[in-house]
Amino acid sequence: MIQRIKKIQLPKIVDERGNLSFLENGSQLPFEVKRAYWIYDVPGGEKRGGHAYMELDEVVIALSGSFDVVINEGDGEKRYVLNRSYDALYIPHLVWRSLENFSTNSLALILASTTYNERDYIRDFNAYLKARESNGISI
Ligand code: TYD
Repeated sequence: MIQRIKKIQLPKIVDERGNLSFLENGSQLPFEVKRAYWIYDVPGGEKRGGHAYMELDEVVIALSGSFDVVINEGDGEKRYVLNRSYDALYIPHLVWRSLENFSTNSLALILASTTYNERDYIRDFNAYLKARESNGISI
């Protein structure tokens, strides 16, 4: 079945000492987390990402500051603004995505369903469109 991009609202435990959010395997996410990485100290105007994955599913969270996740599934760009540390954006495999428009001191946390594997990356947009087609995903 084709999975869809979706925002997942994480629990937020409001506390006057400071708020707390969490996620754990088996509940908030539609996959088991195998890897975490984070992007920070992004100079103004820079972009990260700009590729798709053959198999990897992920969620992206703006732990601090804000940035945009720009998605292209072959029918133009869609922009998701992330600026809450309790909002996770779920991105399934075979979705072209980039991270842009980082605010000063923003911190992007990415939780991934696989360990790092360069061979899982699709870095060419036309190859991405072909991979979608050969996996039976229409635009
Ligand atoms: P990459 O995912 O290619 O970043 P971007 O798509 O924003 O250019 O990662 C950049 C480099 O970091 C890549 O060449 C290898 C390394 N890297 C790891 O070693 N492990 C990881 O989990 C990630 C995400 C990247």
